[in-house]
Amino acid sequence: MSDLFICNCRQLVTLAGPARPRIGAEMRELAIVPDGAMWVRDGRIHAVGTRRDIERSLPPRAGVLDAGWRIVLPGFVDAHTHAVFAGNRADEFEQRSAGATYQEIAASGGGIRATVKRTRLAGEVELLAAARRYRDWFLRGGTTTIEAKSGYGLSLESELKILRVICRLDQEGRARYVATFLGAHEVPDEYQGRRDEYADLVIHEMLPCVREERLAEYCDVFCELSVFPAFQARRILEAARSLGFGLRLHADQLASGGGAQLAAELGAATADHLEQASDEGLQALQRAGVQPVLLPASVYSLGSNRYPAARQMIEMGLGVVLATDFNPGSSPTVSMPLVLSMACTQMHLTPAEALTAATINAACSLKRGHEIGSLEPGKCADFAIHDCDDYRELPYFFGRDTALAVYVNGACVYARENYL
Ligand code: NIG
Ligand code: FE
Repeated sequence: MSDLFICNCRQLVTLAGPARPRIGAEMRELAIVPDGAMWVRDGRIHAVGTRRDIERSLPPRAGVLDAGWRIVLPGFVDAHTHAVFAGNRADEFEQRSAGATYQEIAASGGGIRATVKRTRLAGEVELLAAARRYRDWFLRGGTTTIEAKSGYGLSLESELKILRVICRLDQEGRARYVATFLGAHEVPDEYQGRRDEYADLVIHEMLPCVREERLAEYCDVFCELSVFPAFQARRILEAARSLGFGLRLHADQLASGGGAQLAAELGAATADHLEQASDEGLQALQRAGVQPVLLPASVYSLGSNRYPAARQMIEMGLGVVLATDFNPGSSPTVSMPLVLSMACTQMHLTPAEALTAATINAACSLKRGHEIGSLEPGKCADFAIHDCDDYRELPYFFGRDTALAVYVNGACVYARENYL
């Protein structure tokens, strides 16, 4: 048996509570233990409490991790990323800085389709190397679980290649990955003007094969008037659901197109983005128990100021989630601390609400609320020591790397130079 004693935590932010999305005022309850300590046994949390509580029953040979009077948080659960792609789009970033819009660039053959070209050409080894580099960036921000979507292949072979890379990353164990198949992210060049036929390919060839090889748990569709409008997204998502996939949707990002209502009708796990969602759309999500995944970094990065109605969602009792949307186009950031900061300054979440949205609520949206997202006995020991005196400093001092050391299953996966 291996035992690890984590002590001298100025704040042990446990988020202890029910293994379901926290709603309303619950989102402000972090269950902080001052002068906290945690006992990890064989990668799982064995006990949580004050130093005095834990020390009493600790075996003498336990290893000690001194948190140095800093704060300890659950690892962030980033529930929406596109973390596997080749190349980047710094060139388009420059064009946007000079005034071109994301939609204009996409319409002229850039955007998602530009990344698809490069990703198709990349071999699995090259793609894995790029994704490992980003994985290490995620860890530096204190993220330990990454939902990762395919969607830059748009052919059976290339979509499978991306999903296999995600699977490899998960097996490597430094971070947890949850794979989502996003074959309907865009219509590829060779199907331009034949969107229906491409949807048929997704439904009849890609989905069954991804299922057969067990390469993804979830299916997502970019449900957007100009990409896959709701009637088409429905066809794809219904096929996915009948094969046993859980559903997540890019909904109402650029235009209000009934995406939220569709997510509610289909009983999706999440509806993501929602910058343009209507009141009726949000009510439908609430009635159906669909969790909204909010992605403020993509709003910021696109130079927009139309953030989703996060306050209203919390007042309505929705189990709000925050994620980075890390991708080479609309959101080139892996930083959950930065996302928390944007959630506070741009959407008026409190720091506690933002933290709940980025941990336990995100874990629940991935059906992992019983395993990760809070620091409670029985759960996986996924946690991070952050260089702060108080959890509110995390969104307050924005734009710096705060994690000192990060643990997954009780094993150190990242430590700042000379820290340990
Ligand atoms: O979530 N909206 C669609 N997909 C991504 C953007 C992907 C890209 O630009 O490469 C998003 O914003
Ligand atoms: Fe996205």
